[in-house]
Amino acid sequence: MRVATVVGARPQFIKMAPVSRELRKHFEEIVIHTGQHYDYEMNRIFFEQLNIPEPDYYLGVGSGSHGYQTGEMLKKIEEVLVREEPDIVLVYGDTNSTLAGALAAVKLHIKVAHVEAGLRSFDKRMPEEVNRVLTDHVSDYLFAPTETAVKNLHNEGIDDGVYLTGDVMYDALLHNIRIARKESRILTELGLKPKEYLLATVHRAENTEGRERLERIIGAFIESGELIVFPVHPRTRKYLGAYGLIDEVEKARNVLMIPPVGYLDMLVLEENARKILTDSGGVQKEAYFLKVPCITLRERTEWAETVEDGWNLLVGAEREKILRAIREFEPRGETYTYRFGDGKTSERIVKALLGG
Ligand code: UD1
Ligand code: UDP
Repeated sequence: MRVATVVGARPQFIKMAPVSRELRKHFEEIVIHTGQHYDYEMNRIFFEQLNIPEPDYYLGVGSGSHGYQTGEMLKKIEEVLVREEPDIVLVYGDTNSTLAGALAAVKLHIKVAHVEAGLRSFDKRMPEEVNRVLTDHVSDYLFAPTETAVKNLHNEGIDDGVYLTGDVMYDALLHNIRIARKESRILTELGLKPKEYLLATVHRAENTEGRERLERIIGAFIESGELIVFPVHPRTRKYLGAYGLIDEVEKARNVLMIPPVGYLDMLVLEENARKILTDSGGVQKEAYFLKVPCITLRERTEWAETVEDGWNLLVGAEREKILRAIREFEPRGETYTYRFGDGKTSERIVKALLGG
């Protein structure tokens, strides 16, 4: 049996790492990299650090509008699938690379397996929501990370092929956290002391494409006066530049803008942060796994469990809410990581693909 894995964006490299390791014990894997992310810090660094198999095909699609990017991917993935004739196409998450991989496969009558199926924000204005819903509706294997995800699929009439597997990002974290603690020098490099800084990431379209929300978020970071370490996604750097906000952030002595960091450094930055501010899906979960309070710069989240358990607070892009959360948000209860599996999600996924 041959499995073609389609990836292209940063979180997908992290998600495929544990699955690929397990997959290759039983299947032949062909890795197709769309080229959606291409900067060294958004791409190569993950292959180097996480021992991910090198792509067999690098499609070099790069950046562009949704239609352009997804269309180019679709054409190029199709060519590879026609040549390679895999039995299954494996896609991850909710990016344009996910949708393109799933669509190319289903039209060629190749089975689609979706890792991170069933997540919903119920906000169709998010490009990710469109990608997820469409991908789930053409998938044969739906690997749901949480019970909430299984319920969401059921509510859309999808029960066949649904497996509650847990979350591959929890597998990835458990595998890498000890390595990260040993190998990362990021705290020393940046002169940081554990629990004496906050960590922030911002990259969602809703928070960057439009000056108002980005300006309010950045304004709150500056006004808080807290030391905030801010690894800046290239999309965000582009918009900060376009809105003339870069200088303001650079002048603010408390906001430390740095280029995106590798996964090992990121885990260490997360674990040692006093609080995390983010609009990332992956970072919200990692905060929960590491028991760090998370302030989410969105109105909704797909990871309802983190909010229900009290470790994640949704504040949107409201300056006052962000500032209050920075000052006051102190979760006291427990985190229940079993809600995201037991770190053996990859094994469960491969078992399902083997038909067991
Ligand atoms: C994409 C995903 C998003 C995911 C995120 C993970 C879609 C619709 N969005 O968003 O769901 O959370 O990846 O990080 O698929 N750029 C660079 N260098 C790069 C990559 C991007 O400079 O290596 C810049 C380009 O200006 C590009 C912009 O970032 O136009 C946005 O990149 P794109 O891949 O379209 O979306 P992301 O914001 O990265
Ligand atoms: N991440 C990283 N370096 C960074 C920012 C994020 O390694 O500078 C990791 C993070 O730890 C998580 C994943 O990237 O595992 C999340 O990806 P991202 O925030 O880009 O996308 P999302 O999860 O929102 O789709």
